[in-house]
Amino acid sequence: MDFNFDRLERTLRYKLLTGLVVPRPIALVTSLSAAGVVNAAPFSFFNVLADEPPIVILSIEDRASGSMKDTGRNIIERREFVVNLVDESIAVQMHGCSNDMPPEVSELKVVGLTEAPSLSVSPPRILEAPAALECTLYSDISIGKRRILIGQVRHLHVRDGLVDPQTFRIDMCLYQPVGRLFANRYCRTGGQFSLEKNAYLEQLEQAGRT
Ligand SMILES: Cc1cc2nc3c(=O)[nH]c(=O)nc-3n(C[C@H](O)[C@H](O)[C@H](O)COP(=O)(O)O)c2cc1C
Repeated sequence: MDFNFDRLERTLRYKLLTGLVVPRPIALVTSLSAAGVVNAAPFSFFNVLADEPPIVILSIEDRASGSMKDTGRNIIERREFVVNLVDESIAVQMHGCSNDMPPEVSELKVVGLTEAPSLSVSPPRILEAPAALECTLYSDISIGKRRILIGQVRHLHVRDGLVDPQTFRIDMCLYQPVGRLFANRYCRTGGQFSLEKNAYLEQLEQAGRT
């Protein structure tokens, strides 16, 4: 089966792309409104794209009404935000933050997560998150009904015990991030495996023997 994307309707393209390009990492973004209300919302059109400078990217779609989501508006106004990464311990609360709440309501309070002060930016981070990336807005681009926000990471917080201070490796047994599949489906990151560069040789040899 194949699809000509130049002719396919937008919602069908969305379904195919978001169902196939999985699992996607989740940014639970905290930002501050002009009135000083802390906003939190999850975004899975998100990734890290560079390390010099350290860059993350978000893609925020306008609401059906055409207005900008609170996160997008706050980031453009204040040019600062925090990407809180999401593990199993806060998955339910992260999903709760995706409910459309009025700008004067702080999602963190509603779902029961705790604000902790950031060090380089004004929006707070989430205390319970396994890691938090304090970011300033590097650049932004409009593509159709989406705002692509490019952030530069200024400061990183990681839960104690997750980073080996000698090797800087993350303990992948302790760190249990969740990924987004599509709609309200998620996956765990248990079931990891390693591969040696030449593992394919063994497979070829086995295939030759059968
Ligand atoms: C796991 C997850 C990922 C999401 N990813 C995105 C995304 O990448 N872009 C987007 O515009 N909305 C995304 N949403 C929807 C927003 O979280 C939702 O519209 C939210 O209400 C926006 O809140 P805000 O107005 O406070 O910014 C996602 C929702 C969930 C549950």
